[in-house]
Amino acid sequence: MSFPVRDSLRDLELLIRARYGLIHLDTPEDARAQVLLHHLSDRLGVPFFVWTRLEGLRRWELPDPVYDTRPLARAVGHVTQARTDGVYHLQGVTRSDLVDPDVQALLREVARCMEGPVGAVVLTGQDLELPERIRPHSARLGLPGPGPQEFRELLETILRDLSARRHVEVSLTPDETDQLLRHLSGFTLLEAEKTLTRAIVEDGKLTLQAIGHVVDAKREVVEREGLLEYYPVERTLDEVADLRGFKAWLAARTAVVRSPGKAREMGLPFPRGVLLLGVPGCGKSMSAKAVSAEWNLPLLRLDPSTLYNKYIGESEQNFRRAMRTAERMAPVVLWVDELEKAFASGGTEDGGVSQRILGSFLSWMQEREGDVFVVATANDVQRLPPEFLRKGRFDEVFFVDLPDRVTREEILRIHLARRGLDPGSFPVQELGEVTTGFSGSELEQAVVSAQYAAFAAGEPLTAGHLRGEIARTRPLSALMGEKVAALRMWAAERTVPAN
Ligand SMILES: Nc1ncnc2c1ncn2[C@@H]1O[C@H](COP(=O)(O)OP(=O)(O)OP(=O)(O)O)[C@@H](O)[C@H]1O
Ligand SMILES: [Mg+2]
Repeated sequence: MSFPVRDSLRDLELLIRARYGLIHLDTPEDARAQVLLHHLSDRLGVPFFVWTRLEGLRRWELPDPVYDTRPLARAVGHVTQARTDGVYHLQGVTRSDLVDPDVQALLREVARCMEGPVGAVVLTGQDLELPERIRPHSARLGLPGPGPQEFRELLETILRDLSARRHVEVSLTPDETDQLLRHLSGFTLLEAEKTLTRAIVEDGKLTLQAIGHVVDAKREVVEREGLLEYYPVERTLDEVADLRGFKAWLAARTAVVRSPGKAREMGLPFPRGVLLLGVPGCGKSMSAKAVSAEWNLPLLRLDPSTLYNKYIGESEQNFRRAMRTAERMAPVVLWVDELEKAFASGGTEDGGVSQRILGSFLSWMQEREGDVFVVATANDVQRLPPEFLRKGRFDEVFFVDLPDRVTREEILRIHLARRGLDPGSFPVQELGEVTTGFSGSELEQAVVSAQYAAFAAGEPLTAGHLRGEIARTRPLSALMGEKVAALRMWAAERTVPAN
């Protein structure tokens, strides 16, 4: 068996040896769990039983199920009475199955009964959570998603099966194959099988383009959930002027992100996240997005407004589901823009929902499973719950300040070039000097407005148009001079400069 599953097999064996009679194996993949549990029963030398809603409880080798065990309560009742050795896999259990007080009582009973015989009752099911009354009597074990080795075996099987039926041309180097398999991370085996098969069947070829299919399929998974947005990567960090402190921090961690397994062996964990605070329009959102390009990871955006959209009470559940999706898609960058708006401190007007979600988010930040790197941004530190600034939530809190003269020149060059203009033919140095206090976004806006002015006049864009727009602009930092100064003072004591 492949690596992550082999570990889970050992963990399960340990739980059973420790006499846990009731185990919640947390995975959306019943079929994979079944293979694992079958192995487990072999290792323990005990019979293997499977319960499904359609069939009831059946000993694996036997053709017929135990009489009248289709209702879950009956199946569990049977196990409590039989009290025999065995691994009993109850598949596709739902939350509503467990609402029934009889089922709850029987499961507690089974937990006690199975302390004697060798074996356990193991529950699996999509989004399953055990009710409070059962939890203390059970153990929970998360089954990690399939790893590269399982995906490799899957790919080999698919290629073998398809080649038997039609001609399949594979043109992938070993390196490219690895890259493809890495992109599958976060998928269930079933999802991976569908996606790979679709990619190959389309034109009878397996090339690096299959990665495109994988990315599309991931987007579908994320968007089906509705709370996270899958963001196509637009810009790289090369298009962000300056922010060298932040860039250097990222660069120092790129090797860890590329080979997280090796790094972990050396005691280096996957980076957890950063908070970018600062003056509006200076590139926080843009840099947050660019992290994903830099590290070549998918970018998910958490849009908190969708959390509160549903009626109250569901919000927290929605939030937990979103975080689980992010974990499932790992390695991934999770972007939370304008953190203070999502988790405003104080506010009790919504019956405390946002407070509770804030609590969930903070504890998720500490306990999360999987390689999820969080990039959060915020402008208004007054409204930002102070908990976010406590040590250990983020690896680092960066302050993004207004650009200095040299950076302003660079920003002008970037934005002229992006619009197909040659920066060399503009007096960028002079323009950099006259734009003290301008943010990156105001500089960009000046270029855009100048282009409109030039177009309206039927002329090519000149330095004159740019000078005109710059003179007309009242930068935000001038309008809110005191606020910016206060923000800087505040940041000087609490953050690391990003510029
Ligand atoms: N350092 C920079 N280099 C290049 N472009 C920049 C830079 N800073 C800002 N810009 C330009 O300004 C635009 C706005 O920046 P961005 O949205 O990232 O700012 P922000 O800090 O998130 O602002 P806000 O606080 O208002 O959300 C960017 O899309 C980019 O085009
Ligand atoms: Mg922003």
